[in-house]
Amino acid sequence: HSARDIAPGAHPLSVVAHRGASEDAPEHTLTAYRKAIEDGADALECDVRLTADGHLVCVHDRRVNRTSNGRGAVSSLELADLAALDFGSWKGEATDREAPDLDATAVLTLERLLELVADAGRRVELAIETKHPTRWAGQVEDRLLTLLDRFGLTKPPTGEPPAVRVMSFSARSLHRVQAGAPAVPTVYLMQFLSPRHRDGRLPAGVGIAGPSIRIIRKDPGYVERLHRAGNQVHVWTVNDPADVELCARAGVDAVITNRPKQVLSQLGRR
Ligand code: G3P
Ligand code: CA
Repeated sequence: HSARDIAPGAHPLSVVAHRGASEDAPEHTLTAYRKAIEDGADALECDVRLTADGHLVCVHDRRVNRTSNGRGAVSSLELADLAALDFGSWKGEATDREAPDLDATAVLTLERLLELVADAGRRVELAIETKHPTRWAGQVEDRLLTLLDRFGLTKPPTGEPPAVRVMSFSARSLHRVQAGAPAVPTVYLMQFLSPRHRDGRLPAGVGIAGPSIRIIRKDPGYVERLHRAGNQVHVWTVNDPADVELCARAGVDAVITNRPKQVLSQLGRR
């Protein structure tokens, strides 16, 4: 996807719900994403991992230990194993044994999230992050593109901006996505600013930079350098009002936040 089509510096600042409205609800649950949509988020961020039986699920960590009552790596568990776990109680989500609130406690498949977005009743974009995909040598991206294709998301109708983008810290993963779905924009995530990208240029074919807020705090001028090189800038994770202000002033294109409602309100959008 050409960087030019994405219009660097386009406004208003897009608000992306990081793992859903994850400050208020357990991350990556249907409840967290529903709330983000109700709150007015422009887009939803999610991390995807492959289960032992080949399903893409929305889980951040390699293991389920932090966000569920289970143990073990996602890659060594089957979807049925994950479905038996409680992904809500760690966040204080009360579970009523008689009538458990599955939306707030069940593992979320990417497929279910795509259905939620398709039924949202308004345009809601998706920013999907592939986690440590190199280990699976392309299986994550293959499965991801098959699903996106099924939901009509790999080829946006002419004149319409793409509603989904794929993010990764791995340029290899992004290149696999570009090869399989050239119309899907890719976001190169950066934890630190490497000398290779200091001038604003990104890995081949990538049109969006995803720097951490720490990079922007240290070097707000980086936003302009990225724009001059033809890239959009999506910053994570922007929760502090001072950081929202900094991003807005620096002309960032999207902020990825755990608190979409508060950020939209700070930006005067609700
Ligand atoms: O949106 C990018 C950001 O989510 C990357 O960091 O660890 O929260 O996945 P992490
Ligand atoms: Ca992420």
